[in-house]
Amino acid sequence: MTDPAPRARVGGPLVVRTPEELRRALADAGRVGLVPTMGALHGGHRSLMRLARERVDTLVVSVFVNPLQFGPDEDLDRYPRDLPGDTRLCGEEGVDVVFAPETATMYPRPQMVTVDAGAMGDRLEGASRPGHFTGVLTVVTKLFQLVRPDLAVFGAKDAQQIALVRRMVADLDLPVEIVGAPTLRDPDGLASSSRNVYLSERDRVSALSLSRALAAGADAAPEGAEAVRAAAQAVLDKAAGAVPPVELDYLALVDPATFADAADDHRGEAVLAVAARVGPTRLIDNVTVTLRP
Ligand code: PAF
Repeated sequence: MTDPAPRARVGGPLVVRTPEELRRALADAGRVGLVPTMGALHGGHRSLMRLARERVDTLVVSVFVNPLQFGPDEDLDRYPRDLPGDTRLCGEEGVDVVFAPETATMYPRPQMVTVDAGAMGDRLEGASRPGHFTGVLTVVTKLFQLVRPDLAVFGAKDAQQIALVRRMVADLDLPVEIVGAPTLRDPDGLASSSRNVYLSERDRVSALSLSRALAAGADAAPEGAEAVRAAAQAVLDKAAGAVPPVELDYLALVDPATFADAADDHRGEAVLAVAARVGPTRLIDNVTVTLRP
């Protein structure tokens, strides 16, 4: 089945910058969908928008580079920003409203009260990026409060993020349905990411070893957890000697609900997740595998 033709909205989406403008735009909005983003929109975001578009009357895309989820040495200042390009892409996907607040609008005072991500937020991405998930869950909660969506779509590429958002929604009884969208990949296997714009041609060749390692791990799934880890690690060991090298941050096989390490005798679904630096760029990717059903 081919993708349905996107509905280009006449005149493009309404771009709103403040909660008041957003409230006015969403009066009588019917069923509302939200795709939260940090902008620099690409094909992966399009697929999230298409999933939401099918299911709601009014589709909102938020574009906000959230400083609360960046560490002091991370790429907040150089994170790609292109609101005109993002708005055009949203228009092509039939988005009704783009909510693009300024930082001072979202955080008019120091954020004292935040959403603690708990133990799951300290593992993997959270161990490498302390405070990251508190920043994510805090801004997602604020966006849910401002937009009041019936459903919100998140990409499976950020597997730990969507697991934490689901857990937050369950633990805090938030009235929103969370929908996961499969990771979009280029034909060579590279997962779509706003940070891919940082990759030089040579970086990109090295970066392909992430998806190759995950594919090798997935192929070993019938042999169990140890075999999955070993097969993926072998690909990454080789990539550590490539030019430029793939500098591994973590490779982990985890329980999808808790992100705790999968035991050697783990059965059923597990997430094989990887994070690595290639040149100046930090990349993450993951695949869900089924261990000895
Ligand atoms: O996945 C992202 O782009 C961000 O973490 C999100 C969910 C928009 C929160 O800032």
